[in-house]
Amino acid sequence: MRTIGILKEQNGDSRVCVIPQIVKKIINELQYNVIVELHAGLQAGFNNNNYKEAGAQIGNVNEVIEKSDILLSIHPFVLPPQVEAPKTCIAILNPLFNTEGLQVFLKPNLTVYSLDLVPRTSKAQSMDVLSSMASLAGYKAVLVAANLAKGVVPMFTTAAGTVKPAKILVIGAGVAGLQAIATAKRLGAIVDAFDVRKSAGEEVRSLGANFIEVEGAAENLQAGGYAIEQSEDFILRQKALIDKYVSEASIVITTANIPGKKAPVLIEKSSVEKMKFGSVIVDLAAEQGGNCEVTIDNQTINHAGVTIVGDSYLVRDLPQTASQLLSTNYFNFLKHWKSISRDGIINDTIVQDCLVIEDGKMVNQRVKGFIK
Ligand code: NAI
Repeated sequence: MRTIGILKEQNGDSRVCVIPQIVKKIINELQYNVIVELHAGLQAGFNNNNYKEAGAQIGNVNEVIEKSDILLSIHPFVLPPQVEAPKTCIAILNPLFNTEGLQVFLKPNLTVYSLDLVPRTSKAQSMDVLSSMASLAGYKAVLVAANLAKGVVPMFTTAAGTVKPAKILVIGAGVAGLQAIATAKRLGAIVDAFDVRKSAGEEVRSLGANFIEVEGAAENLQAGGYAIEQSEDFILRQKALIDKYVSEASIVITTANIPGKKAPVLIEKSSVEKMKFGSVIVDLAAEQGGNCEVTIDNQTINHAGVTIVGDSYLVRDLPQTASQLLSTNYFNFLKHWKSISRDGIINDTIVQDCLVIEDGKMVNQRVKGFIK
């Protein structure tokens, strides 16, 4: 029987890619042995005993790497200089941006799949790690902003008077943005949202928010549902309209991304300076450069009385739910991959799209296209 190894995240991420409940399913339904690195799930609320009860062995990192045919993790991990037996690694490597993170895997005998490359199709939806994490990030962004804001979000009617509901602006109405809108609406805010994809308008309106459109956005049906880079003229017109909405909002959540490109800067410093004292911007695109001119990735700063949170990994503050969702995504990928391997079908788009490195060689055309 082949063995799957579950690694503890070496960069301190509090999530684990597979929780005990899913370990049980991997053993029973997919018939693999499972070995889990000591304390791999501790920060997410799952201890070694939970994994043992699910049927896994526990080992240190070297034992896990040595005994496993298939290694699962979220981020890249340190491997011995030489990998003696063939191994498959399944992780989330962000290879379109982080080509350096791939270097550790360019070794003979290693085959690597990156789950963030799963195509955006209905069949692959249950394996889509980007969607599950974006959804949680959108939710958490609103809670973080509401906590940091100096005022309340819903309308308050009290004997001492009525407080108007907060205005929340969401820029980018993809998975994270739509969840941010839904959360902001549940908290009672008045919500406006921007996106360059026309199709986002219907989804925004169905959540009860106002969709703001800038005429002339470029779209490409070949982009797999993603946004593409906009012209300079469009971005200028968009910034001007955003300026008006930003200055009226007390919370702004930004999520606008373009795969493999720097995030568009949509909020200028001068717009931040027009916001009310005590307003908050949460920039989920921070890792990709940020949607706000003054964002600093991984920092919370104050600019002219406005708090700006630059954080693309708010899911790390929800490690239990994030690990639970990731586990299901990993399980569904493993199940699909196993059935594909058994049937010898090599033309499967899901598996082929995620395959980055085969026997130490970069094989993914999309990733190759992004390597500078
Ligand atoms: P993302 O995280 O790459 O980007 C977030 C949002 O920012 C997108 O909606 C994008 O249109 C928007 N954006 C980019 N540039 C902008 C600009 N200049 N101004 C305003 N907004 C801008 O996108 P995400 O959340 O991953 O979703 C992208 C698409 O993929 C959506 O159409 C989504 O519905 C679709 N999708 C489909 C899935 C499936 O069918 N399995 C699963 C998940 C997403």
